[in-house]
Amino acid sequence: MPRILDVGCGPKKYPGSIGIDMNPDTAADVLCHLDQGSLPFRDSVFDEVRAVHLIEHVDNVIRTIEEFHRVARPGGIIFLVTPHYTDFSSFCDPTHRWHLNSFSFWYFYPEGLHGEASWYSCARLKQRRLRVRLLQVWRYLGFEFLVNHSLRFRRFWEFYLCYVVRGKVMEFELEVLK
Ligand SMILES: C[S@@+](CC[C@H](N)C(=O)[O-])C[C@H]1O[C@@H](n2cnc3c(N)ncnc32)[C@H](O)[C@@H]1O
Repeated sequence: MPRILDVGCGPKKYPGSIGIDMNPDTAADVLCHLDQGSLPFRDSVFDEVRAVHLIEHVDNVIRTIEEFHRVARPGGIIFLVTPHYTDFSSFCDPTHRWHLNSFSFWYFYPEGLHGEASWYSCARLKQRRLRVRLLQVWRYLGFEFLVNHSLRFRRFWEFYLCYVVRGKVMEFELEVLK
């Protein structure tokens, strides 16, 4: 059985996972406030760390990803779901501290954000899969397919189109490099 950690699990913990949350009124197995210390687990013990609609809530994205990286085994997966910053949901929730785009975790990729290694973290991740969902009308018009199947088009979309052709949610499957 893969060892899965569901961080910020809320009331519906991922089946078969260990759930952690800061809120006792959830399905959490372990109560833990991510912004107040390290995760209460040893290094490299999980095959997968899931954080669904969590990362936009934390104090420090870099530090949180580093903790996910620490507790995941080499070759393990970090699975993140978070709103694209152009979605209505990104800004309507006052508990969202961060408004991210489809390149935000590129920061941790070995090639770095601007072709340089990142300055503020040594954690390294490799993108296994990225799914960007767009608002329904744009999906029907074929934009979602293009954004997900062409890196060039996705860059063009982020630079020039996304304030009109608005994003919805992003799903990142990132491999842990150690
Ligand atoms: C938007 S809910 C998502 C719940 C669940 N993952 C889902 O998709 O249904 C965010 C969850 O993360 C938890 N959370 C937010 N910030 C946290 C933090 N700093 N430490 C631990 N849990 C946190 C909240 O208590 C809440 O249960």
